[in-house]
Amino acid sequence: FDVTWDVEAASKGGFDCFMAKEIHEQPEGIKNTLERRLDESGKIVLDSIKMKKEDLEKINKIYIVACGTAYHAGLLGKKALEAFLNVPVITDIASEFRYNDNFVDENSLVILVSQSGETADTLAVLRDSKAKGARILAVTNVVGSSIAREADDVFYTWAGPEIAVASTKAYTTQIVSLYMIALNFALEKGSIKEDYYMYMIEKMKTLPEGVQSILDNQDKIKEIAQKIVDKEHAFFLGRGIDYALAMEGSLKLKEVSYIHAEAFAAGELKHGTIALIEEGTPVISIATQEKLFEKMVSNMQEVTARGAYVVAIAQEHNKGVEKVADDVIYIPNSDDMLSPVMAVVPMQLLSYYVSTLRGLDVDKPRNLAKSVTVE
Ligand code: G6P
Repeated sequence: FDVTWDVEAASKGGFDCFMAKEIHEQPEGIKNTLERRLDESGKIVLDSIKMKKEDLEKINKIYIVACGTAYHAGLLGKKALEAFLNVPVITDIASEFRYNDNFVDENSLVILVSQSGETADTLAVLRDSKAKGARILAVTNVVGSSIAREADDVFYTWAGPEIAVASTKAYTTQIVSLYMIALNFALEKGSIKEDYYMYMIEKMKTLPEGVQSILDNQDKIKEIAQKIVDKEHAFFLGRGIDYALAMEGSLKLKEVSYIHAEAFAAGELKHGTIALIEEGTPVISIATQEKLFEKMVSNMQEVTARGAYVVAIAQEHNKGVEKVADDVIYIPNSDDMLSPVMAVVPMQLLSYYVSTLRGLDVDKPRNLAKSVTVE
């Protein structure tokens, strides 16, 4: 009888690294974050957010501020808040925001997103904004962290501990959390109807299953990883919500595989980026947004014509994408707003496979720290 498991391997739940384990924990993390907060009538209870209707009515500016992956989740939070609440929202990087004229005042709501709750620049924005009288809402994964303690209102992502430096399950639960907050604020304010609110919750409940179906079908993603493992550069394209997602896809790949990866708004291709496309350049093209689908198809055609190796990520029913992409990864059909929670998963897996194929330390990429507590 051989004991093949050591303690560390056991804590990785049978996976070869924490990143893989955490990618696979996403259905559970999303489910916990959402379903454990639904009351008997199926509505979301925002537990430790104490903001009332009067508080919301006072707010005339909303900011979402964060770093790294949390910033990318904040870009999606902006989309949801703008769509549901019908007000403009500014999302910014903490290390920029704190040194800019940011116009934060007592009528501002500042939402800080932070997995660790300890990131120095994000914490500094919290303190500055608080001093200016703003209402502070933290979305964090760590109970009792500095950001959680100092905020007026806290919403915890229930992702469970995240160990790998590259953030995965924190990101998807942050998106879900921001959407839940946006939905409740909008219902409270009367900017969305109850039917739509309930419809979105029902759709969100299908996300764990959708993510699971991607996790159950990784062969194609492994194949694609083989094709890009020796590349020096990779580009990620998207429009709207998919552009925000492209930024996260590109960050994931660069941080764990060291391939130079960049995200571009697909409409900017012609303004410079296309000069970088050569024979075989990988271009991951995210095309999950119904209203922007045809535009993305044209962008894929443009890069294919210059010899790019195009990998598309699209909703299952959009089979037309096969005409313009070399490889396609399908995600289950979904509401456009919710698709990023699923569409990021193939990119996380791709990054993990490329890193593994390159023989790198997936969980501890060179020069990076899990929590950046210095400025
Ligand atoms: C570091 C981590 C990233 C994370 C960022 C912000 O760079 O490596 O994964 O997204 O910090 O961290 P936070 O804890 O504030 O979300």
